[in-house]
Amino acid sequence: HRQPIIAIDGPAGAGKSTVTRQIAEALGLLYLDTGAMYRAVTWLVLQSGIEIDDQPAIAEIVSQCQIELIPDGEQPRTVINSQDVTEAIRSLEVTANVSAIASQGAVRQALVKKQQAFGRQGGIVAEGRDIGTTVFPDAELKIFLTASVQERAKRRLLELHAKGQTDITQEQLEQDIAQRDHLDSNRAISPLRKAVDAVEIQTDNLTIDDVIQRAVSLYRETI
Ligand code: C5P
Repeated sequence: HRQPIIAIDGPAGAGKSTVTRQIAEALGLLYLDTGAMYRAVTWLVLQSGIEIDDQPAIAEIVSQCQIELIPDGEQPRTVINSQDVTEAIRSLEVTANVSAIASQGAVRQALVKKQQAFGRQGGIVAEGRDIGTTVFPDAELKIFLTASVQERAKRRLLELHAKGQTDITQEQLEQDIAQRDHLDSNRAISPLRKAVDAVEIQTDNLTIDDVIQRAVSLYRETI
C-alpha cells in the first residue's frame, strides 16, 4: 500500500503554495505543485508562438513535453524540456493565459496522468484545483483553502510591493483574481470544486501558522 496523500485545493491567492510547502516540510512529505505544471505548458505554448486556442497543436506539444519538478529547499525548480522556467512561469503573461490552456481536455488528461504517476507511492502533499476531486480522489486528507477576493488581492499587492512592483492597483488585482476564479470554476472539465469530503478552511482572519497548525493536527487525527 502507498504512503498517505494530502490534497490541497482552492482558488488563486488563498495561500495554497506557502501552506503546502510548509506542510510538506513539517510532515516530511514531497511537495507537488500542479499549478506549476499548467504554467509550464502555458509558457511553452506562448514561447512556441502557437495560438492559445489551437487545441490540436497544444495537444501535440503537451503529449511530447518533459516536465520535471526538482526539490530545491524552499522553492522547487520547474523544468520543461530541459529549460528551467521557475521564475518565467510567474510572469503576468503566463498568469493571464494559463486558465485558457488549463481548460483544454488534452492538456488536463496529460498532466493528470503525470501527477498520478508522481503520487503513485504516496508520501506527498499536492496543491491545485482538482486534486481532491480528480487527481487523488482517495487522498487521506483533503483541505479546501479559501479567502475573500478582497483579502487575496490585498495579500498579492503586499507581495508585489515587496518585490518593488508598484504599478498595479488593488482593484486591478481583484478583477484579475475574480476573472481567474470564474474561468477555473466554470470550465467543463474538472472545474474548481470543494470535494464533498474536504475540510474547508477560510483564511481571511488566520495567519499562515494558524493554517499550518490546523492542517497538521487534521493530518495527525486522520493518519
Ligand atoms: O495554482 P496556480 O495559480 O499556480 O495555478 C495556475 C492555473 O493553473 C490556475 O488558475 C488554473 O487555471 C490551473 N490549474 C488547474 N488545475 C490544477 C492546478 C492549476 O486548472 N490542478
